[in-house]
Amino acid sequence: MRPTDHAYVPREALDVLTARTLENSHRCLLEVLEPGMTVLDVGCGPGTLTMGIARRVDPGSVVGMDLNPEMIAAAEQASPPGQIPNLVFYKGDIRQSGWQAEFDLANAARVLQWIPDAETALRAMARAVRAGGQVVVLDYEHTRAEWSRPPGAWTRFYRAFLEWRKAGGLDNGIIGRVPEMCAAAGLVDIRVTPLVETVRAGDADFLRVAGAWRLVVDSRGRQMVAAGHLDEDERLAAVEAFTRWMQTGEATQTIHEACVVARRPTESRP
Ligand SMILES: C[S@@+](CC[C@H](N)C(=O)[O-])C[C@H]1O[C@@H](n2cnc3c(N)ncnc32)[C@H](O)[C@@H]1O
Repeated sequence: MRPTDHAYVPREALDVLTARTLENSHRCLLEVLEPGMTVLDVGCGPGTLTMGIARRVDPGSVVGMDLNPEMIAAAEQASPPGQIPNLVFYKGDIRQSGWQAEFDLANAARVLQWIPDAETALRAMARAVRAGGQVVVLDYEHTRAEWSRPPGAWTRFYRAFLEWRKAGGLDNGIIGRVPEMCAAAGLVDIRVTPLVETVRAGDADFLRVAGAWRLVVDSRGRQMVAAGHLDEDERLAAVEAFTRWMQTGEATQTIHEACVVARRPTESRP
C-alpha cells in the first residue's frame, strides 16, 4: 500500500481515529452488540473501536482486520497480542477474505467510503456472517456536509476533496447505496438510521468533531496535493482559514452519516 493510495490513512489522521469511541462515534453498533458474540471489524484502523467491541462482547471474540500494515501495527501497539484475550488483529483486504459464516456480526465503520468496488467488500462481509448473523455499515454522505459561512479557501478545499475522491473511483454518497448493496448481497431486514451531527462553537465536542476536518487538510490534503487536485498554497490557506473559522463564535458544522444494519437470512447463502 502506498501513501498516495486513497485508502492509505496518513499519520496526521491517526488522532482522528484514536479519539473515537463506540459511544461518541458508533452508537448504532453498541445497540446490537451482546456479550458472547463473535465479531469481524473490517477496516479496524488503529483498533480503538475494535477494543471497545471486544470489551462489549466479552467472552465472545473479535477479529480486527485492516488493509494497511501500519494500522495493524498501531492496533497491536495499543493492544499487544494476548493482552485482551478475546481480540486479535490481522492485515488483510476484506475483498479477498475467505471468511465463511464464521461470525455473528461483521462491522465496517467509515471503511466502504474508501473502497472503489465497495460491493465486493459488502458481499465478503455478508459471506463472513452465519445464517441469521448481522452486517453493520456506518458511513458518510459527504456531499451533504455543511459549514456555516465557510471561508472561500475551505469551500475550495472541500470541493477538491470531493473531486479527488471521485477521481479515485470513490463514491461521495456511499451510504445511500449501501441498502441496495445489502439487498444484492442477499441480506434482509435492512434498517437504515440516518445520523446528522451538528456541532457549534462552544459545544463540548466541537473541537474534536470540527477539528477532525482540520486534520483532514493536514492528512488527506497532502495526498490531494500529490495527486494534483490542490496546490500546496491552497492547502495551507485552507488550514489557516479553517483554524480561524473554528474560533468564530457562530461556527457550526453539520455532517451526514447513516448506519445500515442488515441480516443474513437463516436459510440461504449470499
Ligand atoms: C477511516 S478508517 C476507519 C477506521 C475505524 N473503522 C474507525 O471508524 O475509526 C478506514 C480504514 O479502512 C481500511 N481499509 C480500506 N480499504 C480496506 C480494505 N479493502 N480491506 C480492509 N481494510 C480497508 C483503511 O486502511 C483504514 O484503516
